[in-house]
Amino acid sequence: MARQSLQEEMTALRERALAAIQAAGDAKSLEEARVEFLGKKGVLTQLLRGMGELPPEERPAVGKWVNALRDELAEALEARRRQLEQAALAARLAEEAVDVTLPGKRPARGSLHPLTRVLREMLDVFTGLGFEVVEGPEVETDYYNFEALNIPRHHPARDMQDTFYITENILLRTQTSPVQIRTMESRRPPVKIVAPGKVYRVDEADATHSPMFHQIEGLLIDKGVTMADLKGTLTAVAHALFGEDRGVRFRPSYFPFTEPSAEVDIECGICRGQGCRFCGGEGWLEILGCGMVHPNVLRMVNYDPEEVGGFAFGMGIERVALLKYGIEDIRLLFESDMRFLQQF
Ligand code: FA5
Ligand code: MG
Repeated sequence: MARQSLQEEMTALRERALAAIQAAGDAKSLEEARVEFLGKKGVLTQLLRGMGELPPEERPAVGKWVNALRDELAEALEARRRQLEQAALAARLAEEAVDVTLPGKRPARGSLHPLTRVLREMLDVFTGLGFEVVEGPEVETDYYNFEALNIPRHHPARDMQDTFYITENILLRTQTSPVQIRTMESRRPPVKIVAPGKVYRVDEADATHSPMFHQIEGLLIDKGVTMADLKGTLTAVAHALFGEDRGVRFRPSYFPFTEPSAEVDIECGICRGQGCRFCGGEGWLEILGCGMVHPNVLRMVNYDPEEVGGFAFGMGIERVALLKYGIEDIRLLFESDMRFLQQF
């Protein structure tokens, strides 16, 4: 009877242990099953400890059985562990699988701002003509922005460009022309540079004016430079930028730092010279001011006007963009409206 019930107990124990191992759904519950049955304080250990209470003749058979069960359970544990591992791997592979038949995601591609494109194109044209690109500061002194350019304090020409002052002597440059002075101060002739950058004026914004805009300054100083060189250079640049068939006109003008002075207009890209709202009915839009460098300016940088001379110009980059692309309002260039920008 005792023997019978021990055997039943052992069979039930085996089944319970194997069932627990099979039922383990992850590494943690599998480890729990191992501790329960094979651990130091586990069921089998306790069974072995209790052997002392058995009649001596039964001990070898029970001991053998317990050892066999230990091996069997160890194997079952290992088999279950491998199963779980494979299931986990299969699940991960399924989850990470790439369906190569799905349509691809198109990466959003940026594009250059129209102003950047026009600036680069203009610099290409100028470097192609042998001009070197230099830069100067946007926060300038009164001296470089005005005085050295032959515009003394209280001279009425200061009203041509309404200025953002920071202190009495420091201001936001109203033009790129101060870079002429900085360049000539730092080198001897010949000089052949262009200087792109931002400029600021207390101008009311309208279709063709912005309080912040960009200019490219140009300066060529050498022996024997004439007005014909100025006209030839700027006409070539205009043709390169707008095409040979676009109207270009030189109009006499005034700047304190050039004599004689001119401004250049380009045929309106919207109405092609007919006159429209964009060009104020003119049929033309001014893109630049220019002239032969004034002897006073040359003297300011210790160049001898009897020895050398040259021409200078300041070109509005936004104006070139408006004319090239037929943009009807300069403010579109600064509003960062993607619907507008994505057209370029
Ligand atoms: C000047 O700024 C002179 N420094 C140009 C110059 C340089 C003359 C060297 C002689 C020798 P003006 O103020 O006209 O000139 O401006 C030059 C160009 O900048 C204009 O033809 C126009 O294309 C552009 N511009 C002027 N004001 C604005 C504005 N508010 N918004 C956008 N573009 C402007
Ligand atoms: Mg002007």
